[in-house]
Amino acid sequence: MTTYCKISLNSLTAKEVEVGYKLTALRNLFGSTSVSPHLPFSRSEFFQSSRQHSQGMSISGVQQKLSLKENDHRKLTPTATGGEYILKPSPESFPNAAENEHIAMRLSTLLGIETAFCGLVDFADGELAFITRRFDRLDHGRKLHQEDLLQCFDIPSDNKYDKTYEEAGKLVLEVTGGKKAVVLDFLRRVIFSYLIGNDDLHLKNFSVQRQHGNTSRYYDKLTPNYDCLFCDAFNTNGAEKGSGQLALGLLLDPEDGDEQFSEAQQHYGSYTGIDFIELGKRLGIPEKPIIKFIDQLHNKQADMLNLIHRSYMPEAMKERATALLENRLRALGIISLKRQAQKAL
Ligand SMILES: Nc1ncnc2c1ncn2[C@@H]1O[C@H](COP(=O)(O)OP(=O)(O)OP(=O)(O)O)[C@@H](O)[C@H]1O
Ligand SMILES: [Mg+2]
Repeated sequence: MTTYCKISLNSLTAKEVEVGYKLTALRNLFGSTSVSPHLPFSRSEFFQSSRQHSQGMSISGVQQKLSLKENDHRKLTPTATGGEYILKPSPESFPNAAENEHIAMRLSTLLGIETAFCGLVDFADGELAFITRRFDRLDHGRKLHQEDLLQCFDIPSDNKYDKTYEEAGKLVLEVTGGKKAVVLDFLRRVIFSYLIGNDDLHLKNFSVQRQHGNTSRYYDKLTPNYDCLFCDAFNTNGAEKGSGQLALGLLLDPEDGDEQFSEAQQHYGSYTGIDFIELGKRLGIPEKPIIKFIDQLHNKQADMLNLIHRSYMPEAMKERATALLENRLRALGIISLKRQAQKAL
């Protein structure tokens, strides 16, 4: 029986249990409570229409997706133009990726990171799929201008892993005309990725956006967060992968231009809070707001674990996600080598 809303993960009242959603959550995602969260097509029909509609569609990315809009009967249907939502079913090789992405995005929201509106909807055959409302669309078909960091670097798409977060952060500073608040937002997203073991935060998974009316060459902000996943949780048998690296190197060696590891990273064999403070320093962000964010992660530990518990991931995946998050919280709590040495005495 459905107990938690497939959008907000809040508890449902007896009446809402039949619907599977809180009405407020339906309104937040679809702008109305009368849009049906039940797709009028099955998973296999998805793959057929996804081929048909992929021509001329502007959503890139590796995973198969479908652009949807609301039809006259308030049903979500595939469209080649004017899509309002993006539908991502779980790929065959990654069962429950939809449920995994949904909870990762909920945690991002919980931590105060602006995050794309999203939820779970079901195919006609009952399987859940991830849906997100497009953040680059305004009313009447108008679009907001956005660009991902790969485009901003102006490098080919095979090179989406070929920069460090330090270089990416400096680019964010440059293309926003020096907005430190946006760089701090960028840093929080890198820390969040580490927290949940998202090891695919490459250059196409960050985008910058100009708000409506901005005619300058600078961007105002990052788009809402998207494509967050507990990657390690797919691997439900076997040990946690290596030392938990990120998709890109964190720091740049100023001498040889390669990835650089801090003394702390070499000591612990994985990133700790110290590395993210160092990244901040190199990007001109003082340590105070970074430590504040790390403190907030610790203060919200129980809330995060509770959300994972309420999520639609299978039990084994929840356990894996919980264990990883606890480990990463411990690592992020290390913010000074000196303080750790004093603690050990
Ligand atoms: N809510 C949204 N609104 C507008 N654009 C979005 C939204 N979510 C994702 N996108 C865009 O669509 C692209 C593909 O989406 P996403 O990154 O979720 O898919 P993916 O196939 O998992 O990507 P990857 O190639 O990283 O595996 C993103 O790079 C981003 O530019
Ligand atoms: Mg992506």
